Amino acid sequence: MARWIEACAVDDVEREDVVAVVDGDRVYAVYRSEDDEFFATAGHCTHERAPLCEGLVMDGVIECPRHNGRFDFRTGRALGAPVLVDLATYPVAVRDGRVHVDVD
Ligand code: FES
Repeated sequence: MARWIEACAVDDVEREDVVAVVDGDRVYAVYRSEDDEFFATAGHCTHERAPLCEGLVMDGVIECPRHNGRFDFRTGRALGAPVLVDLATYPVAVRDGRVHVDVD
């Protein structure tokens, strides 16, 4: 079943950037692509759980700040060692200038 949270405002995320969104004891990463689409993944790297909000976003890829593992943030796909496990991804909807994420 869906459980939508209001994650942030559209303007809270710069183009080609990522922010952390906390919901209870869970953290999500919300991305804005260069063409102003929004995406959401788990907030921590699947390698050694570094916070992805501190990583670098470029061309649809998030690079982990700890060991430079890379993921496609649109699909969550791990793009090679040291990251071998894909990120969880979550549906996103933008309404009235707010970014909503289905975290279920
Ligand atoms: Fe992300 Fe190691 S913690 S690549």
